[in-house]
Amino acid sequence: MTNDTRQWTPDSWQSKPAAQQPSYPDAEALHKTVEKLSKLPPLVTSWEIEKLRSQLADVVRGERFLLQGGDCSESFEDCQSDAITSKLKILLQMSLVLTQSGRKRVIRIGRFAGQYAKPRSSETETHNGVTLPVYRGDMINRPGFTKEERRPDPDLLLRAYERAALTINFIRALIDGGFADLHHPEYWELGFVRKSPRAAEYMQMVESLGESLRFMETLTGSTIAEMNRVDFFTSHEGLHLWYEQAQTRKVPRRPYWYNLATHFPWIGNRTRSLDGAHVEYFRGIRNPIGVKIGQPITPDELVALCRILNPENELGRLTLIHRFGADAVERELPPLVDIVQKHGLAVVWCCDPMHGNTEVTSTGVKTRRFERIVRELELSFQILKEHGTHLGGVHFELTGDQVTECVGGACGLTEADLTRDYRSSVDPRLNYEQALEMAMSLARLMRQ
Ligand code: PEP
Ligand code: CO
Repeated sequence: MTNDTRQWTPDSWQSKPAAQQPSYPDAEALHKTVEKLSKLPPLVTSWEIEKLRSQLADVVRGERFLLQGGDCSESFEDCQSDAITSKLKILLQMSLVLTQSGRKRVIRIGRFAGQYAKPRSSETETHNGVTLPVYRGDMINRPGFTKEERRPDPDLLLRAYERAALTINFIRALIDGGFADLHHPEYWELGFVRKSPRAAEYMQMVESLGESLRFMETLTGSTIAEMNRVDFFTSHEGLHLWYEQAQTRKVPRRPYWYNLATHFPWIGNRTRSLDGAHVEYFRGIRNPIGVKIGQPITPDELVALCRILNPENELGRLTLIHRFGADAVERELPPLVDIVQKHGLAVVWCCDPMHGNTEVTSTGVKTRRFERIVRELELSFQILKEHGTHLGGVHFELTGDQVTECVGGACGLTEADLTRDYRSSVDPRLNYEQALEMAMSLARLMRQ
């Protein structure tokens, strides 16, 4: 394995084994589509990417906190104004809680505008004696269980790119129009905020944030400009390498290659093999990147991964998103933190308390328990602190809607409630009330 970036090209991953890729029946159709994709204008700019890199460097220094969240898997059907605004609203509300009560500036990264491809544990699925390719996300095939729907269709790559563009366009317009202005948190109020068990606590934070802003503005005699426009960044798992390659570009006056389909792509836990195509692709792009870290991983493997993906050991380039589960984190995380500290590797430590805490109920429904999610966060804060470093961020699967997919929390959802409004086609998400409550628990942990 070489770290020599001179030998890297946007398509050099093709000479390595690529896990979790669909097999397209018509290779020529795929290549024509990738060609079309690569001619479309980018979704994000190199300036934004550089800005996020530098803000993530602040996280390494303990000066900012990263909040990343959104659906496990976006669907084409959910590319609608209501679904997008409610996702934006819950992330804004959570970040307000973390800023006000956790006392840190917050970077907001949505799991949206491209989260359309999913890794799966098996290639096929069998029902009533019929075996078909598994559903791999709206970018690749369709969820319905027919041969036609499960056939990987290259055209869906273009449809995904267009929907990502529609999503990001709407988010930018909302933010430019003042939707995210901290002077007007009432814009982000979701219909049911007042019914939430945590409503009073949240409203009090909004109130006291307003007071602090007014106080500062009286003192300085001007409006605090940074508060009028908060930043929002996009992210998705960089799983489908043809899609990622198509938007990998050089821009004028910069020496680097950028993935211009998203600000912050990450490598999934199943595709981070040192000799695999994903690590090869990711090592050559300039974007700040994430890597999911779960079992099985050894300390030596983690060091090798950091050296390949961040050979210059630059602050803000690499975020390690650990996801061991509340039961395993005390055993798995300390040796990794030890070795990263020992080698002086600059990383953002981010906890994904969702993917290690998935369980299946006795009636066969996939769920996650609020209390276990909080427990993994609590342990992660503690472990990193004990090792002389800090937890820099969190990664959630959540939605701004009142779905019933995870159990527990102050809203008291039980297993019996799961059938009421379970919408996710892949993993269970925190609903609006659970997400807001999670932010409050998190803020408490940040203050400790
Ligand atoms: C995910 O984030 O939806 C996911 C599949 O995570 P992981 O790679 O950690 O399993
Ligand atoms: Co998931």
